[in-house]
This record gives sequence, structure tokens and C-alpha cells, in this order.
Amino acid sequence: MTDETRWERPDHAGIRKQFEDRFRQMHDEGTDTAGEARFIDMLLDRGSTVLDAGCGTGRLTAELNLRGHLCIGVDKDPKLLKTAKELHGPGHDFLRSDLVDVTGEWLAAGGLPRTYDLIAAIGNVMAYLAPGSEIQVLRNFAALLTDGGRLVTGFAADRDYTLEQFDDDASAAGFRVEHRFGSWQLAAFDDDADWATTVLRRSGQ
Ligand SMILES: C[S@@+](CC[C@H](N)C(=O)[O-])C[C@H]1O[C@@H](n2cnc3c(N)ncnc32)[C@H](O)[C@@H]1O
Repeated sequence: MTDETRWERPDHAGIRKQFEDRFRQMHDEGTDTAGEARFIDMLLDRGSTVLDAGCGTGRLTAELNLRGHLCIGVDKDPKLLKTAKELHGPGHDFLRSDLVDVTGEWLAAGGLPRTYDLIAAIGNVMAYLAPGSEIQVLRNFAALLTDGGRLVTGFAADRDYTLEQFDDDASAAGFRVEHRFGSWQLAAFDDDADWATTVLRRSGQ
């Protein structure tokens, strides 16, 4: 039994429903939801391995697979995983787990890569983890990355989990910040920015 995430909190039921409805509608209407995928694709060699950590309705996983990468989506929310499978069909791996439990051994037992060229935690995933679990999740990410592999995160800067705390936790987990932007379109990041897109690498690489 894992701790309740901020996403699972009973008072977030409305937000969960709105999120699912919004992404289902955008998918059905063909609205572009691939901005983060284009950013991440730019960082990757062709045919890379990617872990979409907190994949939600699966938009990043599906788009990166379409672009020729092997992207695996993992999420704890069974409803969003069901929607991901419905929207994107077979041919994608959408797995259920809490990110505190994701290890190379678990992935390899399912016939999937043990290590990844990039891990993406986009759409506020870091800010929705169970309070206090962030550092363990970041340690798991560090252990799952190949040499020179990167972690890309995007989350709002006004949340309970602050950017300062994230930077401290990421450093303790062995990451260094390589780039930080105020949007997915490379807006400059400054102290007033309400969003941080961050590219990290494991220290010493
Ligand atoms: C706002 S949604 C973003 C989904 C997706 N990344 C996107 O941008 O479309 C946040 C997601 O984080 C997932 N999440 C939060 N904490 C998690 C945890 N500990 N383990 C796995 N997934 C988690 C939630 O289930 C939810 O799908």
C-alpha cells in the first residue's frame, strides 16, 4: 500500500474529472497536445527509450512512439490508464504503478528495458506525488537512466512542492539542472515565472 498522492486526494476528484474530460475532448477534436513531445523529441537520438512517468491519458507516450522512440507510460490512476488505452489503442505500453515502486527489475520482468535514455515527468506530475515521496521517486529515476540520460520535468511554480525543494531533492538524488525555461516554448525563466520546464542530468555525467 503506497501513500496517497496529492492527485488522489478526495478533494481533487473534480480536478481529476476535468483533466480526463479535457484531454479526451482535445483528443477527439484533434487539438494539438504534443508540445511537450516536440520539446522532448528534440533532445533525443532517433529510436531512444523513454519512460513517461505519470503518463495520465497517454498523450506523450503515444506521440513519442509515433516519432519512432520506445516510450513506456506508467501511472497510478487506473481510470486515466483505461482512457489512455481507449484513446491510443494497442501498440503502447501503459502500466500501473506508483512511481515510488518503479524499478528496472520490475520493468525488465515485464519484458521492457531496464534503463531509459530519458524520463519525462510532465504536466505537474512532480507536484502531485505523495508529500515526502518526491526524493525517493527522483532516486528511482536516477537509477533508471542510462549514462548521460536526462530527466525532463514541467510543473507550476506556485504549488505546495516548491521549485527550491525540487532542486534540493534532485541534487540529493544525484541530478544537476542543465536547462530551465519558463514554458515549453523556451520562454526565459526568472524568479517571477509561474512555470518551470527543467532538463536535468545525473551529476558526474
Ligand atoms: C495532471 S496529470 C498529468 C498527466 C500527463 N503527464 C500529462 O501531462 O498529460 C498528473 C498525473 O500524475 C500521476 N501521478 C501522481 N503521483 C503519482 C505517483 N506517485 N505514481 C504514479 N503516477 C502519479 C497522476 O495519476 C496523474 O495521471
